[in-house]
Amino acid sequence: MAVIKEQPNPQESITVTDNRTGKTVTIPITNNSIPATAFTALKAPTTAGKRQEDDLGNGIRVYDPGFMNTAAIKSRITYIDGDAGELRHRGYPIEQLAERSTYLETAYLLIYGHLPDASQSKIWEYEVMHHTFLSEDLTSLLRSMRYDSHPMSIFITAFSSLSAYHPEANPSLAGQNLYTTSPELLNKQVIRALGKSSTIAALSLRIRMNRPAIAPRADLTYTENLLYMMDALSPADPYRPDPRLAKALDTLFILHADHEMNCSTAAMVHVGSSRVDPYSAIAAAASALYGPLHGGANEAVIRMLQRIGSVDRVPAFLEGVKKKKELLFGFGHRVYRNTDPRSTIIRKVAEEVFSILGRDPDGLIEIAQALRDAALKDPYFVERKLYPNVDYWSGLIYKTMGFPLDFFPVLFAVPRVSGWLAHWKQNLEEGTGKIWRPRQVYVGEGRRDYVELGEREARKVEDSREGVRELPHYQSRRRGPRGGVPAKL
Ligand SMILES: CC(C)(COP(=O)(O)OP(=O)(O)OC[C@H]1O[C@@H](n2cnc3c(N)ncnc32)[C@H](O)[C@@H]1OP(=O)(O)O)[C@@H](O)C(=O)NCCC(=O)NCCS
Repeated sequence: MAVIKEQPNPQESITVTDNRTGKTVTIPITNNSIPATAFTALKAPTTAGKRQEDDLGNGIRVYDPGFMNTAAIKSRITYIDGDAGELRHRGYPIEQLAERSTYLETAYLLIYGHLPDASQSKIWEYEVMHHTFLSEDLTSLLRSMRYDSHPMSIFITAFSSLSAYHPEANPSLAGQNLYTTSPELLNKQVIRALGKSSTIAALSLRIRMNRPAIAPRADLTYTENLLYMMDALSPADPYRPDPRLAKALDTLFILHADHEMNCSTAAMVHVGSSRVDPYSAIAAAASALYGPLHGGANEAVIRMLQRIGSVDRVPAFLEGVKKKKELLFGFGHRVYRNTDPRSTIIRKVAEEVFSILGRDPDGLIEIAQALRDAALKDPYFVERKLYPNVDYWSGLIYKTMGFPLDFFPVLFAVPRVSGWLAHWKQNLEEGTGKIWRPRQVYVGEGRRDYVELGEREARKVEDSREGVRELPHYQSRRRGPRGGVPAKL
């Protein structure tokens, strides 16, 4: 596999002078970026009065909380132009992929860098669809979770357990260089993860409904099979999902497959850099996606529309948003400052789904349309370049298709497995091979000596952020105020 190489142009550089010492370094600029390690050459003497913890002798550190301007990888996978509203995977515009590709083909493109030819396409689809089975004991393990478990909790549990079922794929057991020396083994785990993620997703929904697991069918497309496993009443049920709905879901999966270095993908690559098995890394990535600031926005849109309740209350709601009392969920994006290209495509998918299943009976679509139209005309949103993002419509589609709100993040996670795997593979093959280990700027106490318990000053905890106070114990009142444990405090 080729390693990413750059040819630095000597005129492309910046010169930085450290005013503490007068030392100057010239740093090459490549692809409009500079290596952060160049700043380690700017060392300052540790003179009297300087903090030891500032580590002056090891050079300047680049402080960037929240990675606001730090590129952690070089990538060939996905390009976003936020100003132009463009999204491309391996060079192909998302509009063309959504129109002409399929989710499985896009997954192949993301992971292997090129569109598969006819023979590769056949092998790929066959293999993914024949690696969809979950073992009986993993199924029972998941079934033992509470009936009302959040489906993402089941999804994460399933992936973290999968590493136990495939010891030959575990670098802790089979060798730390497993995935850099055995591309066949890597491909097998890629195929398994893609295949099984759909079965896990369907099972997480069926556990909620207290229905038996339905075995996957390899003769259906990826999304047809997913809908089948969710909705077949029993293995004998001849149910075949509506191909138009399967196609709509497939398009949504293409739109959600990858979005470069987002929170969950960064988690996948970070955890993967320790060379842990890919299932454990996917569990970590899925945990990142579970958070409401990442995978939960489409659900927040529905809750917002439900709160608004009717079209005539849209203006009052917008006034509240403008007074910063609340957010207009599904609007705005960190990268897109023009339109989110995915939202334009998703709008068409929404119309298709509404035409098949009818409009949402709660009238949420009408509220969503009125809200969007009013916001797009309002100077507050125009001046701040706030446009509908992918989540504005996806939640309405999922709701119209009858999925429960807490299942929405799973419908995001299943296709995002392909983006996670693409980045994980790229980093194994083209990254530095080093474990990801950010630095910190230590601003805490200097060195101090331990004080014995009896010699410490009494400290009253006024605020729970400063220490632990007695917690309420939710036990029977009959056991007394501290749960029957003799109070020694
Ligand atoms: C996506 C998001 C987190 C991007 O945040 P960001 O890049 O940090 O944007 P900023 O916070 O810098 O926003 C710039 C301004 O627009 C406002 N703004 C941004 N998104 C807004 C929204 N959805 N509703 C109301 N105001 C919003 C901010 O309050 C800020 O106003 P100010 O200049 O008066 O302070 C943000 O737009 C948001 O919270 N959107 C709603 C949640 C959502 O839909 N998330 C899914 C993203 S795919």
